[in-house]
Amino acid sequence: MEVELLWPRVWQMACRLEEIPQRRDFVEYEVLDQSIVVLRTDDMGVRAFQNACRHRGVRIVEGRGTCESGFTCPFHGWCYGPDGRNTFVPQARTFAEHNLQPEDINLTPVRCEVWGGCAWINLDDDAPPLRPCIEPFATIQDAWKVESLRTERWYACRLPVNWKLAEEAFVEMYHVVETHPQLVIPGRYPPRDGRAIDPRTLIDAEIHYLRTMSEGMDGMVHANDVRIAEGLRDIELPADPTLAMSIWQRQLNDAVVSWHRAAGSDVPDLNDLEAQGINEPMGYCFPHYFVLPMYSAASSYRFRPLGPEETLMEIWSLARFPEGREPEKPTPPEPWECDDPRWPPIPTQDFSNLPRQQRGLHARGFQYMRLSERAEGHISNFERTVDGFVAGLPYERLLPALESINLNPLDRPVVDIDL
Ligand code: FES
Ligand SMILES: [Fe+2]
Repeated sequence: MEVELLWPRVWQMACRLEEIPQRRDFVEYEVLDQSIVVLRTDDMGVRAFQNACRHRGVRIVEGRGTCESGFTCPFHGWCYGPDGRNTFVPQARTFAEHNLQPEDINLTPVRCEVWGGCAWINLDDDAPPLRPCIEPFATIQDAWKVESLRTERWYACRLPVNWKLAEEAFVEMYHVVETHPQLVIPGRYPPRDGRAIDPRTLIDAEIHYLRTMSEGMDGMVHANDVRIAEGLRDIELPADPTLAMSIWQRQLNDAVVSWHRAAGSDVPDLNDLEAQGINEPMGYCFPHYFVLPMYSAASSYRFRPLGPEETLMEIWSLARFPEGREPEKPTPPEPWECDDPRWPPIPTQDFSNLPRQQRGLHARGFQYMRLSERAEGHISNFERTVDGFVAGLPYERLLPALESINLNPLDRPVVDIDL
């Protein structure tokens, strides 16, 4: 059902723009049985086509590359320009005229829009434009200047679970204590009775947390930002724990912003975002894209189904660079298995639960997932939105639901999405 009614009707992050930096660079984006070519045009725009020759359907590209003069189908040699127009049909006179109508033999265009440093595609010509489908995620990430991030590292994981289960392992904090005990750092939490603290303990605990997140996710908190925090180790903080924490955060935000601006990078005023209530640790974009901002940098995830119980999860470490000093075009990762010893500690811990959960769900006596109303609400909201697509509801019903789930999913309550 999802194959017919969900994936062909949603905007999907098809590639990061730095994968196609030059004119005529292209990448193939595959989702289930569909393959789409995303191409940088001569005017530095982005277009997309269905990856199927108009003769007998052969995929005209595999993977990625640069098409100097266009694409040639490997089967009988039909040729297409970089704008998708058919430029040559060998032995054209052997075809009936009605089979070679010029407008019928160009590559079939796919809707494509650019936002947030990525190209997005939608296979449905009747879907609303990209922007209303990804709000308020887009507005919040724009304020954080997500478009100026570039890929520093890129990983992929093959998970033996349904894609929804895979996503749902990353949208709540409830699992942190049991799954990631190293992230529960004494001294980070103000005493419940409001008693005074030793500010040195708080600072040490905060820096320890940042370092654990940085090493544990290979750059979710960027090493530069950890160093900036270490530079603040000796600042004076009051003994009142709540006040101390808020001063620490303000100072660290300011220090990160000044450091990156002095280096020539484009970074927003984090305290300004904080004041607006949009300095958030995670942004979710239905159905399969995540940005997890931490100070100047971020991790980003994309989940794609490979089958009913197989998912490809990609993880990017994104960072800001001064103009002209951005890294080279990123190399697409070979997917690792979820138990590969090369994974950093935090994903290793998350991945370890997933195959066990997928197997557990097959238990005959298992009734349903008993979600926490307050801590795991996003999972319920998300599943009901998927159900709305699978029920074939019209976009005017689906758009309000999208708007209520394209938010920070952490600690979101169950909400009425009116589907
Ligand atoms: S299938 Fe492409 S040229 Fe025949
Ligand atoms: Fe986790």
